[in-house]
Amino acid sequence: MDIKLRYQELSNNISTKWLGKQIIYKIETGSTNDDVKKEAIEHAPHGTIVIAEKQTNGKGRRGRDWDTKEKSIALSMLLRPSFQPNIASMITLVTALSIAKALEKIGCDNVQIKWPNDILVNKKKVCGILTEMSMEDKKIQYMVVGFGINVNMSYIPEHIKHTATSLLLEMNQEVSRFILIEEILILFEQYYEHFCKLEDLSIFLNEYNDLLINRGTLVKVLEPTGNYEGISKGINFLGELLVETADGKCHKVFAGEVSVRGIDGYV
Ligand code: BTN
Repeated sequence: MDIKLRYQELSNNISTKWLGKQIIYKIETGSTNDDVKKEAIEHAPHGTIVIAEKQTNGKGRRGRDWDTKEKSIALSMLLRPSFQPNIASMITLVTALSIAKALEKIGCDNVQIKWPNDILVNKKKVCGILTEMSMEDKKIQYMVVGFGINVNMSYIPEHIKHTATSLLLEMNQEVSRFILIEEILILFEQYYEHFCKLEDLSIFLNEYNDLLINRGTLVKVLEPTGNYEGISKGINFLGELLVETADGKCHKVFAGEVSVRGIDGYV
């Protein structure tokens, strides 16, 4: 069946209440996050999704590019939350948890989260998340949560091979993008609704920390003001990463312009 029709079918049949009831599918676009922003301005409803086969201007975190490779997923969701902007960054963690759990559900082993926005399989990146927000009068007008997953790529460019991979390469089988997207959307909707009620991550803490890479080991925190090392203790209910330094001090690392990695490189 034609891919566009399959997404149409997915949006008609998906067992969510509001997420993915409208899926806009594009063969090629600049960035699905930018597309969702345009939809938001045009009053598209909460839960609208844009999916593209190819992005010519895919965006990653910290101004980096995101290359959408063949047979992958580039998907952005429109959210219109009523919570305050100061807790919005936790949505990235909710998304990471939903994607990691969905990957486990479709049979992928060794799935881990690299706080705050990467999903790894066998310690290599398969997914990145980019959350953006528009505000007016100190209130959230809308949020865009976009993620890219390397799904059925049979080849990873040499220069990123040591840190990136695809589901096909790790699972040794093709994965249905429709099934995976459906699982992610169902889980995300549930987790998002819990999050909106509690306005924190307390009920997800154990699930999240169990999936977190480098918990209990030495990590390097790269902050604009300077780098330091300490033991990662996992996240707290506000989604901050707790890092204990040798002097016994517990640092609360907030997901902003910060990068945290193991001592020997990317993970
Ligand atoms: C990162 O790892 O730096 C985040 C990558 C986010 C990529 C996705 S692909 C769908 C959506 N559209 C974009 O332009 N970026 C996000």
